[in-house]
Amino acid sequence: MVTYRRMTAADVPFISKLEEETFSMPWSADSFLEMISKEDARYYVAQKDGRLVGGCGVLMIAGEGNITNVVVAPEARNQGIGTGMLRHLMQEGDREGLTAYTLEVRVSNAAAIHVYEKLGFVSAGIRPGFYEKPAEDAMIFWKR
Ligand SMILES: CC(C)(COP(=O)(O)OP(=O)(O)OC[C@H]1O[C@@H](n2cnc3c(N)ncnc32)[C@H](O)[C@@H]1OP(=O)(O)O)[C@@H](O)C(=O)NCCC(=O)NCCS
Repeated sequence: MVTYRRMTAADVPFISKLEEETFSMPWSADSFLEMISKEDARYYVAQKDGRLVGGCGVLMIAGEGNITNVVVAPEARNQGIGTGMLRHLMQEGDREGLTAYTLEVRVSNAAAIHVYEKLGFVSAGIRPGFYEKPAEDAMIFWKR
């Protein structure tokens, strides 16, 4: 069974290790600890059969949600967890009055782009050279 809940400090070692294993420029544990204590941020984790398998988070700015992190552990991918976790984030965001969501993604990240489009995100253009290590353009997505 997969469940979703708010991220706590106890989850941060797992989530920051997963970040390190996944991204060339990972967020640090301190960044996550800062985010989970921020009034205008909401961070969530996914658990499968009680074990942590992913995390995501959103910054709330003027009624819009800027989704900053989305990651699922490799062995738990393609089981609907990334989609479910983002659905949960947006359901909670909607309840708090968010009316739109935005995020950036590497143009080569076909799996993530597929998930965002499935959830109703629409591309609003390219941000050239947004990423480093390796240098790559970002696609900007919005869901309104
Ligand atoms: C992107 C990510 C969070 C998705 O999580 P997930 O739990 O695997 O997502 P889901 O299982 O809900 O959905 C995956 C979908 O992508 C599809 N998919 C998988 N690999 C794909 C690929 N190479 N090209 C296109 N679609 C792909 C799956 O078929 C599935 O679609 P479906 O539900 O229509 O069958 C996960 O792959 C991940 O952590 N990637 C590394 C970190 C990352 O890239 N984060 C996003 C940064 S913006």
